[in-house]
Amino acid sequence: MPDTKIVVISGAGISAESGLATFRDSGGLWEGYNIEDVASPQGWQENPRKVLEFYNLRRKKAAEVQPNEAHKALADLEDDFEVVIVTQNVDDLHERAGSTDVIHLHGELRKARSVKDEALVTDIGSDPIHLGDLAEDGSQLRPHVVWFGEMVPMIEFGAKEVSEADILIVVGTSLVVYPAAGLIEYTKPNIPKYIIDPAEPQLFNLDGWVHYKEKAGSGVKKLIKKLKKEHS
Ligand code: APR
Repeated sequence: MPDTKIVVISGAGISAESGLATFRDSGGLWEGYNIEDVASPQGWQENPRKVLEFYNLRRKKAAEVQPNEAHKALADLEDDFEVVIVTQNVDDLHERAGSTDVIHLHGELRKARSVKDEALVTDIGSDPIHLGDLAEDGSQLRPHVVWFGEMVPMIEFGAKEVSEADILIVVGTSLVVYPAAGLIEYTKPNIPKYIIDPAEPQLFNLDGWVHYKEKAGSGVKKLIKKLKKEHS
């Protein structure tokens, strides 16, 4: 049983029940903000203060909320399986729930980096970043998050994990943002694939997938109970 590797691809929906807004649901973040303004290199050039405010607010909110049942159930899954979480989320709720192997495809709110040297990354905890806050190289700090139009350096690590999965679980992502959405193509043939989302998965053929049409909290727990039973 410890030989069975489960890879989980998660998105904003897994943190919704903790109180963090998703991006594309009604009332989601992209209804209240213009993506280009706050999550693109152009937005940063035009109004860095606005970009910093957006992520300062996200960081503050993420620090105020708690991991929910879905995050916790996935952390507990490590008792019985090898588990790797490949998340698009920039919050740290998977880690705070106890997951030990988490790949953040789109960066992390609790880190900042130099605008000039992307390798110069520093932990900032839940503190805000202000204009004038400098990295070690003397240049402005920016959020350590991937903006639209930027490379996703962690994608190759995510793809490697997915290619080794014996079971794939997708939870709380609309799977519309690439390259993350393309990860599901890297699986070995015929492995069990589960998607947990209260909405209908829109963009791919559901052949070979089992859809738990419910929220992450209840759906993840239900699925994990079944997997533990099957693999005990
Ligand atoms: N439980 C599970 N899924 C949920 C829940 C819930 N309680 N509530 C909403 N969802 C689902 C929605 O139905 C939707 O399919 O979560 C998904 C959220 O989709 P998006 O808002 O598009 O979030 P995500 O897929 O993580 O976005 C990908 O886009 O802008 C970016 O960089 C940002 O990482 C993000 C990327």
